[in-house]
Amino acid sequence: MEYMKTLPKLFDFEAMPKRETLGNGLTGLDVISVDQLNREKLSYIFHRAHEMRELVERVGACDLLKGYVLACLFYEPSTRTSASFIAAMERLGGSVIPITQGVKFSSVSKGESLPDTIRTLEQYADVIVLRHPDLGSAQVAAEAAGIPIINAGDGAGEHPTQALLDLFTIYEELGRVEGLKVAMVGDLRYGRTVHSLTRLLMQYDDVSLRFVSPDTLRLPLNLMNQLLDRKIKVRETNDVADVIENADVLYVTRIQKERFSDPALYDEVKGCYEITPELMKRAKEKMVVMHPLPRVGEIHTAVDSDPRAAYFRQVKNGMFVRMALLAAVLGKA
Ligand code: NCD
Repeated sequence: MEYMKTLPKLFDFEAMPKRETLGNGLTGLDVISVDQLNREKLSYIFHRAHEMRELVERVGACDLLKGYVLACLFYEPSTRTSASFIAAMERLGGSVIPITQGVKFSSVSKGESLPDTIRTLEQYADVIVLRHPDLGSAQVAAEAAGIPIINAGDGAGEHPTQALLDLFTIYEELGRVEGLKVAMVGDLRYGRTVHSLTRLLMQYDDVSLRFVSPDTLRLPLNLMNQLLDRKIKVRETNDVADVIENADVLYVTRIQKERFSDPALYDEVKGCYEITPELMKRAKEKMVVMHPLPRVGEIHTAVDSDPRAAYFRQVKNGMFVRMALLAAVLGKA
């Protein structure tokens, strides 16, 4: 081509290392639902997450994902999920296109469709993390994209990476998952983190699940039926007092105000649960309290100093797990 003729080459491509990928069973995967992750894949991710913790504690960062770009596309508010994905990418030497201020400053506010936005971002990035208010949106994005999509919450559907970090936290805190009694408290109907964690726990033997919610916010029927089909031990109740003494894990959640079509229904259930130091006196000495956060009063701040309060450790685990997942999906770990 005429316009290229006169310049000497700027890059010696032959001397540069090629982008190669490891076959780990996760490379190139769209992470839409936890149902895609069997015990082998979970174990792989958790082993890598352990290494990521050691990496961060010893040296802070590395260049495993140098030259890789993550697009973080958030149509709903987020603090932990977006910040931990950004931190994860940066600690592995990669970089981020952050569209996390809602999407009001992007072309979405001009009416651009999700597939068009995704097909745009994939021209720049190697992987996209998406949070969107519509159930099924992550699947829609995955169908539009040729690069991996990681679901960071699709409405009241799923939040697979939260469930990964929740399960990793249970392992880190209690050393096992088999045989545990896990009580989930709060908004079990709209809480996507509950949906994903419940699905993951179905893979473990002898786990008993206790579901504590107001009647209007019970676990969706299809999920309950799956648990019953698999002969998982389940119990439903309205009262935390029924489960506090036997629980190994107390997984507390926020009532998902934004998912209610009728504000009066929200008013009926808001503030219905509060974990207090008094309640904690009745719990096992080795129990752990978890919460995906943000909390809006479900756990009294006086519980924070209790060694069983694991929710801020859980936050940190999120970064390690997301480092492991990004590296795996990009074929670098
Ligand atoms: C959760 C979510 O967005 O589903 N937050 C999170 O990612 N840690 C839980 C919530 O918003 O209540």
